[in-house]
Amino acid sequence: MGEGARRLRLPTTGSFTSPLHAPRTAAVLGLALGLTFTVCFLTGLLSHLHQHPIGWLTLPSRPAGLYRLSQGAHVITGVASIPLLLAKLWTVYPHLWARPVLASPAHALERLSLAALVGGSLFLLFTGTINIAYWYEPMRFSFTAGHYWAAWITMGGLLVHVGAKVTTTRLALSKRSPDRHGPAGDGLSRRGFLTAVGLTSGVLVVAIAGQTVGALRRISVLAPRRPDAGPQGYPVNRTAAQAGIDAGGADERRFLLSVEGDVRRPLTLDLAQLRAMPQREVTLPISCVEGWSFSARWTGVPVTALLALAGAADGSGATVESMEAEGAYRTSPLNRLQARDPDTLLALQLDGQPLALDHGFPLRLIAPNRPGVQQTKWVRRIVVA
Ligand code: HEM
Repeated sequence: MGEGARRLRLPTTGSFTSPLHAPRTAAVLGLALGLTFTVCFLTGLLSHLHQHPIGWLTLPSRPAGLYRLSQGAHVITGVASIPLLLAKLWTVYPHLWARPVLASPAHALERLSLAALVGGSLFLLFTGTINIAYWYEPMRFSFTAGHYWAAWITMGGLLVHVGAKVTTTRLALSKRSPDRHGPAGDGLSRRGFLTAVGLTSGVLVVAIAGQTVGALRRISVLAPRRPDAGPQGYPVNRTAAQAGIDAGGADERRFLLSVEGDVRRPLTLDLAQLRAMPQREVTLPISCVEGWSFSARWTGVPVTALLALAGAADGSGATVESMEAEGAYRTSPLNRLQARDPDTLLALQLDGQPLALDHGFPLRLIAPNRPGVQQTKWVRRIVVA
């Protein structure tokens, strides 16, 4: 062994004596992360089910604001997790020096689950954040597929980790815990550290939540969207220009809506005929998958009325199709509950005015409890199934 190597003394876990590295600190942060990750996982799965429906599970169309609440909670708890995760990793990093590196097969399995947990968590928080910031360049893969499978891997790792640490956590949080108060020292106390981490999470939440909580919109400096900024006073993600729709393509004199598929009387209706039908006014949110949302007043023709006019069987679902030539969200499915909900409209107006081209002029879908990407704009066809 050379002189240099002999002099190089690696730390051991015992080298770190601060109470900030003690199990009690790790346990408190772990519990907070367990909570935020569980909310993220469940709300993320709900979002996935909306966009990848499975045959035996018909998602309800009520409560109308459920998707708004769940996806808003997804993004908010995800963002709150960032300081929690960084603090937790810093708290436990002395364990990197624990020796032996692999003590037994069970220990090896536990280390493997940690790789899945830590790697998956960092991936989820990073991809989620750059997605809501509209920074797509680093993602050379499908965001939804990567984020979805990473969520399963992370939650698998979390489950094993909880199993491995449940006893330590119980002891660390109990009154009998040897490090309950921590050794008195000059540095930052555990309470001070945890308060700082909690406050950082709180500040991040307030800085972003204004994209969906109107009252916070002025102070939410990091919110990628303001719920009151855009055409007709509301935001849009995909503009008509981005979708390849120009005023000529959406020309109201040439516009025709068709209702076809599994119907007794296929329909072709122009705008005058649609405007002459009984109109319904509803207040419903647009709730973006990226967490921002706004509520507005929509007026238009109920889809149930069109299905009845076309002679569709009770209990049919439908696919709503846009004039867009391409794009992942050119069509969207309406299950039987959504298609039959009286508030599911083909809207002609927003707050009493014709829709702006960017909001889907001349006709767009608006339905309760649904991701914004499925509120199809520039609708030209309904195919009943
Ligand atoms: C900063 C943190 C996070 C942010 C900003 C974030 C953001 C997002 C966004 C914007 C979507 C919707 C994607 C789309 O449909 O286009 C999404 C979906 C999802 N998220 Fe997250 N996320 C975060 C953390 C997490 C975590 C920690 C988990 C799991 C523990 C998770 C699990 C999921 C799942 C399962 C989906 C559904 C993916 C799909 O539709 O296939 N997310 N997330």
